[in-house]
Amino acid sequence: MGIKRIAVLTTGGDAPGMNAAIRSVVRSAVANKVEVMGAFRGWWGLINEELKPFDHRSVSGIINQGGTILKTARCPEFKTEEGQKRAYATIKKHAIDGLIVIGGNGSFTAAHEFFKRYAVPCIGIPASIDNDINGIDMTIGWDTAINTALAAIDNIRDTATSMERIFVVEVMGRDSGSIALAVALAGGCEDVIIPEIKFDLGNMCHEIVNGNIRGKVSWIIVVAEGAASATEIANKITEMTSLETRPVILGHIQRGGRPTALSRDLGLRLGFEAVNCLLRGETDKAVGLCCSKITTVDFEFAIQKKETKAEQWYKLIKILT
Ligand code: F6P
Repeated sequence: MGIKRIAVLTTGGDAPGMNAAIRSVVRSAVANKVEVMGAFRGWWGLINEELKPFDHRSVSGIINQGGTILKTARCPEFKTEEGQKRAYATIKKHAIDGLIVIGGNGSFTAAHEFFKRYAVPCIGIPASIDNDINGIDMTIGWDTAINTALAAIDNIRDTATSMERIFVVEVMGRDSGSIALAVALAGGCEDVIIPEIKFDLGNMCHEIVNGNIRGKVSWIIVVAEGAASATEIANKITEMTSLETRPVILGHIQRGGRPTALSRDLGLRLGFEAVNCLLRGETDKAVGLCCSKITTVDFEFAIQKKETKAEQWYKLIKILT
């Protein structure tokens, strides 16, 4: 039978580099004489038949843009039997032989469920600022997000040093401390609070007070949104140390912006590989970078809680403080 037409979609939170991945999927497919349909707003596009044929030129001029030209959405309807049935009907109607799903953990979980029910060949491309896909080094967009957060932390450092204050900076990552650890290390931050490691606020305040006695007057503490709230932590630090502490929530600025070279390269390489996987008859898995090599990981494994080296990162951050 073979693959003659595929659909590509982006789902969940957007990530810088998604456009590079779309460009690569479309052009790699066209090079193999495979037709491509772009499905808009993630799974909604399949459910509501919001699709458009894409050709080589449809993806011109997007490589440097953050976000996704296909739009994206969270789609609770796709979790229902009825939603999946409608998506399958669209796939049949448009003679789509395979799907490429660009997204994160939630997107792959949905793709895996859909594959189990309807056996439509499907390959995932990991794209999310959270870097929470198991079995791979990094997701598309993570590098851009940590560079954006790092630039903000560098700015905060200037005012923290000048006004001799403590800052608690909240970064995104959902249940993962991946962004927090990376920026705390690269930003030379004094401490980091992440969901993967239990933290002791009393001990942290003790260190702050002792440091203060020795003449250390400014601190930056990074907190992952999945572990605690920057506002609450800052209030408690002020209460426990009597030192002026300010919270900063970086929020969605971490999701946007021009993708870094790393986020683009990853999108381009993985897009190419995803198309080749479908053509080779592979399915129900994600492509990804593992130990710097392009590989594949079964969805079943990719959606498990990511095995991280959080303890090692944390130790390094504390040694270098
Ligand atoms: O998954 C990406 C992410 O930015 C998470 O880090 C964050 O928790 C979530 O999306 C925010 O989602 P929304 O944009 O729907 O509020």
